Amino acid sequence: MADAKPFQWEVTPEPITKEVFRIEGGRPLNGTVPISGSKNAALKLFAAATLTGERCRFTNVPEIEDVRVMTETLQDLGVVVDHPAPNVYEVASGDVEWLFVPLEAAAKMRASFMLLGPLLARFGRVIISNPGGDRIGRRPVDLHVDAMRTLGAEISYRNGYYFATAPGRLRGTEIRFPFVSVMGTENAILAATLADGHTVIRPAAQEPEVDDLIAFIQKMGAEVQRTYPDTIEINGKRRLRGADHRVIPDRIETGTFIVAAAVTGGKLRLEGAPCDHLGRFLDVVASTGLSVSCGKDSIDVDATDVGPGAFRPTDVTTAPYPGLATDLQPPTCVLLTQANGTSRVHEAIFEDRLEWLGELRRMGAGITLLDDHHATITGPARLRGAEVEIGDLRAGASLILAALAAEGVTTIHGAHHVHRGYENIERKFLDLGARIERLAEGNDSTNS
Ligand code: UD1
Repeated sequence: MADAKPFQWEVTPEPITKEVFRIEGGRPLNGTVPISGSKNAALKLFAAATLTGERCRFTNVPEIEDVRVMTETLQDLGVVVDHPAPNVYEVASGDVEWLFVPLEAAAKMRASFMLLGPLLARFGRVIISNPGGDRIGRRPVDLHVDAMRTLGAEISYRNGYYFATAPGRLRGTEIRFPFVSVMGTENAILAATLADGHTVIRPAAQEPEVDDLIAFIQKMGAEVQRTYPDTIEINGKRRLRGADHRVIPDRIETGTFIVAAAVTGGKLRLEGAPCDHLGRFLDVVASTGLSVSCGKDSIDVDATDVGPGAFRPTDVTTAPYPGLATDLQPPTCVLLTQANGTSRVHEAIFEDRLEWLGELRRMGAGITLLDDHHATITGPARLRGAEVEIGDLRAGASLILAALAAEGVTTIHGAHHVHRGYENIERKFLDLGARIERLAEGNDSTNS
């Protein structure tokens, strides 16, 4: 690490432009909405591009804040990231100068930790900040670190940073995770592609974004296969080459718009939407009585004949894919506010992902929070405009859904969270007939 550049251990976060959404609800959404590329696929593809010095080209990349942060993080390392056209990015990692991923990047986006595996495997060393640092303590990265150690890396942790080295080369091995981790699996795959020998990863995450990553690195020349649904095997290579790839559509954005049609009593065609990536979410939607038809390259949702309270209550539990995605738990909860009866919600993946229901309750939803992982939702609720606050990306998009269904005006503070993961969200809703504006905080005087 002798040549690592001097750096600051701590960072003062950049001031965030405070914005609010102001939404006048109660109008059915109608029309066609294009589904953007998947955030959770694109970020890992950018990380994978650092496995080679050759140029990689990505299309259908969503124009979102997290992609901008990943671009900046790579550029700070000396990676060339070009953006020749909207939704098109080229990543060339021929001249990586700094093997250091600072707290600044990690604090903005957990996915910056995806650079651990590829940089360690290709360059034999990296210093990388613990995402969230010591301050939050939740969403640990121990599985990622243990997987790298199993592959032969030496890793120490000091002052919020992991100092990782791979003396010689990483060595292929069996990586056994105690439970499924999406990015843990992806980091292990990327590291193993350049390791010496054969690696088996088990249980491996089955999310469609993991398979998109595999499809891309196969084009780079990696020898990697999903040999069983929960098992991925890799034969390490000395070098990989550049490749082109189209990012898969975003299944979470898809679920968000399905619920938008349902709760506003609208009719939407979701263009480019991936029905076969929705897993158990489609079953949940079907058990509420909402009809969704899957076309070859689109999804149609028609809730125009569904009167208030016509949805059936349904008990739901989040789980790794193909279970109900935890990222679709918030939109699902908004849908359940319109069901006639009580639904139970079990958030089994994260311990802080039901907190946002407190905001939904302020809009009139019948919600009881039982503990960190369980809640009940009793409907049908007449949602009404209120002043609410977004705490994270997926909850933010779901408060927009609730506001679109509500009577009156809702002001949603913390709009910037939503731009981390949704391309042009207010433009897309406006084009479907919604009344939504994004305003600077302070210019949001409402009569709600
Ligand atoms: C990814 C997704 C996120 C999604 C989540 C679960 C990206 C960029 N993010 O996050 O949108 O909500 O999958 O589908 O793809 N855990 C540990 N130690 C670790 C890693 C994880 O204890 O080292 C725990 C987590 O706290 C959580 C569970 O494992 O309870 C699953 O998390 P994981 O699948 O790793 O989520 P991410 O990959 O971070």
